Amino acid sequence: MSNSFSRRNFLQASALAGAGTLLTSSLEAKSPDMILDKNSIGKSKWDLDTPALVVDLDKMDQNIKAVHTRLQGTGVGVRPHVKTHKSPAIAKMQIAAGALGVCAAKLGEAEVMLENGIKNVMMTTVNVSAPKIMKAMGLRKKHKGFIQAVDNPQNIQDLQDAAKAAGIRAEVVLDIDVIRRSGVAPGQPALALAQMIDKMPNLKFCGILAYDGAVQHVVGFKKRQAQALKTFEPVVKTYDMMKAAGLNMEIFSGGGTGTYDIMSVVPGLTDVQVGSYVFMDRQYMEIGGANNETVFDDFAPSLTVMSTILNNYHPGRLTTDSGAKAFTLNKPTPFVLGEPDFIYNAGSDEFGTITFEKSNKSYKVGDKLEIIAPHCDPIVNLYDVIYGTRGDKVVSVIPVLARGKSQ
Ligand SMILES: Cc1ncc(COP(=O)(O)O)c(C=O)c1O
Repeated sequence: MSNSFSRRNFLQASALAGAGTLLTSSLEAKSPDMILDKNSIGKSKWDLDTPALVVDLDKMDQNIKAVHTRLQGTGVGVRPHVKTHKSPAIAKMQIAAGALGVCAAKLGEAEVMLENGIKNVMMTTVNVSAPKIMKAMGLRKKHKGFIQAVDNPQNIQDLQDAAKAAGIRAEVVLDIDVIRRSGVAPGQPALALAQMIDKMPNLKFCGILAYDGAVQHVVGFKKRQAQALKTFEPVVKTYDMMKAAGLNMEIFSGGGTGTYDIMSVVPGLTDVQVGSYVFMDRQYMEIGGANNETVFDDFAPSLTVMSTILNNYHPGRLTTDSGAKAFTLNKPTPFVLGEPDFIYNAGSDEFGTITFEKSNKSYKVGDKLEIIAPHCDPIVNLYDVIYGTRGDKVVSVIPVLARGKSQ
């Protein structure tokens, strides 16, 4: 761990200014579906049974607002990615703050969002199997705000056939390749597919998406900025070609938490697909931001795992109840708040091992720790609920309704 990534940095990052209405206050309206674990409401987070996933609602509120504040006046909107939180309740807050709609990575996530009151959902992943194509078009038939990503000719034809069979004209966006993970090559290949979609009677071409995943975590703002804009040049040219060809370019979506402010200068870009910004994690905090080279503090770390010490027999070593099934095996290691010298190993399934040369206090069996996760998205997928706190007090229990929706 870098020494610069200290508790003080975290505290600074956490102290983001943010006044005004609380988006998260709706989470305290104790509607029955929100309360899965009634007994936890009113408790201190330090009294929760562990491992427990906790979100600081004040910080999450600030994060949701901060992205809009930063993009104000740029003409670029926000289409948050629900792959991060998998929770319709949080998606509703993002919409209330001005998001254009949300993105989904999996059809199961899209379905949970649409069936729980989120009207506009754009699938950023292609669906190529017959059951998924049927399901996607079924969702579109029921929910007009569903948009499907495509990137290959056979899939375009299959979607056309399924849309025709469903008696609908389905909105689609073309995924443009930026990082050799998904999408069609920019330039002529992309233009040809866009024109193919445009000719399909049961499909409506709505524009493009391009996610620059490989540059999101480039350390150092200037380096990231240069790399992100360079990487995006072929996409911008493709956008221009499509516009010149008279295609409908109502959507030009790209960028994530690491590039949201960089992408705002891209001509024609309609929205950024930010995901992690809502929670943040150790991976993102270490990349540095436009205003702070050491810690990316545009957004505050709102998500933590509460963990319990199970064993303290050995000097310089503690065992916790939070291993890979509480944190995943993502890198870097989990960060224990208040103990910058702790090295946390989440390598065992159910146990975490902490080694240290010095600690700020001595720990007994049963003591609790609060820990920042390496990577927020996969962690959320491990928990049924997230406990919402104000200060230390649990004020809501947020169901992670799309948890485990991996299809
Ligand atoms: C297609 C797509 N869009 C947006 C995001 C959100 O990215 P971030 O969490 O970096 O904001 C992701 C994350 O993996 C993604 O795959």
